[in-house]
Amino acid sequence: MKFFIDTANLAQIQEAHDLGILDGVTTNPSLMAKEGIKGEAAILQHYKDICEIVGEGDVSAEVLSTDFASIIEEGKKLAAIDSNIVVKVPMIKDGVKAIKWFTDNNIRTNCTLVFSAGQAILAAKAGATYVSPFIGRIDDSSWDGVELIAQIAQIYSIQGFKTEILAASIRNALHIVKCAEAGADVCTCPLDSILGLLKHPLTDIGLAKFLEDAKKM
Ligand code: E4P
Repeated sequence: MKFFIDTANLAQIQEAHDLGILDGVTTNPSLMAKEGIKGEAAILQHYKDICEIVGEGDVSAEVLSTDFASIIEEGKKLAAIDSNIVVKVPMIKDGVKAIKWFTDNNIRTNCTLVFSAGQAILAAKAGATYVSPFIGRIDDSSWDGVELIAQIAQIYSIQGFKTEILAASIRNALHIVKCAEAGADVCTCPLDSILGLLKHPLTDIGLAKFLEDAKKM
């Protein structure tokens, strides 16, 4: 399973990259706004900066338009920033149409805001590179987000769809483990959830004892 970090914060992207386990980045308009990125020039430059830190990894950059012609125009501009840019398109009618257009024109896509298996089938039919089910938000609405990942993984495997399942809206380290079990190809996580994987009290207790005993060596 690939690890993406879900942020537009350059320091956090650098920290995850320095860990040596980072395969890419996802952003969205809320995450970009949180970093104070405003205006087209600043947005394009910020994606460029992210691509420089990540190197070979994929960087999802989301379109802000919702009609077909504008999504295409915006997506072409985003894709021109760097060969690692993946154009993130919302799961709406014009979005599906745009994903098919991008697929036919060799521009990679991430279909975002996916909350059902039916939507995941449509994204795959349109040729999306990635499909992003938002598992944390599904949990918030009293459904089981990880169950959706497992259902999509089964459907894609039976049908032979090539679209990669990118588990999004991750809230904790357990989500990451459960998504790996359920067959996600990628998990995009906040830095805290990635670092949460490190934690186990027995590791801390064991290390403290080893360091204490090491003084007697
Ligand atoms: C995915 O690409 C989204 O950016 C993100 O995972 C949404 O997460 P949230 O539900 O924590 O906002």
